[in-house]
Amino acid sequence: MLRIGVFDSGIGGLTVLRECVRLLPRATFYYLGDNRRAPYGSRPAGEIVSFTREALSFFRKEGVDAAVLACNTATAVCAAQMRGEFSFPVIGTEPAVLPAARAAQRVLVLCTPRTAVSVRLCSLLSRCPDTHFTVFGAPRLAAAVEERMRGGTLSLSDHLPAGNYGAVVLGCTHYAFLKEEISAFYSAPVFDSAAGVARRLFSLLEGDADDEAGIKNHICKVLNKNKSLQKMTQKNIYFVGNDSIFNESVYKRMFIFDI
Ligand code: DGL
Repeated sequence: MLRIGVFDSGIGGLTVLRECVRLLPRATFYYLGDNRRAPYGSRPAGEIVSFTREALSFFRKEGVDAAVLACNTATAVCAAQMRGEFSFPVIGTEPAVLPAARAAQRVLVLCTPRTAVSVRLCSLLSRCPDTHFTVFGAPRLAAAVEERMRGGTLSLSDHLPAGNYGAVVLGCTHYAFLKEEISAFYSAPVFDSAAGVARRLFSLLEGDADDEAGIKNHICKVLNKNKSLQKMTQKNIYFVGNDSIFNESVYKRMFIFDI
């Protein structure tokens, strides 16, 4: 059975996890949210590298077949480096710039401050020279999403820039919880990356047309017997790490009825 680690700074990656579970319902998932150290988006790159390495080392001990960085910020800062350090495939999450550019000429890219200044985002945007992008690194929006899920309030106008845009890209997985609200705020379609990441994971593991391309049949590992992994919810998801109970409760609250 396939084992997949999914990592984010907090609850944002749950939106990616949901899509991965939809496409790979028989796989076993480990969700690790680093909520206590979130948000990552205003941290120095070195810290993000070290936290991401910690998470992937945890997944390695569990014998995962692949890991998903369900975090645009960690992907922008260190996906390439992590691919060099770990032997299992590391799938990243990138802002859905290309589909948004197909839909509109003026596109707002919402992301964390760290992603906003990344070389990776810059090179992604350069692939759409005919589109006018406005990149906005929201300093506190990811934290506000975490807080809202713990009962706090969130007003979008405190966090988002005004303007008219034909499409909005959600370049942070936390923002996907606000998809409908952000779409209404700008009266524009909103693009997130969750389904694209899940499709990438699926094709990597299962192969596209040719099953030989997938790794499903090539890997069979023994699950570590670790007491911290006793907690499993529907669809074979283990929520691990310090905030496992919170992440599991958000996942159930938001998604359990539509998977
Ligand atoms: N969810 C993360 C992302 O996609 C990071 C949010 C944060 O911790 O700043 O960028």
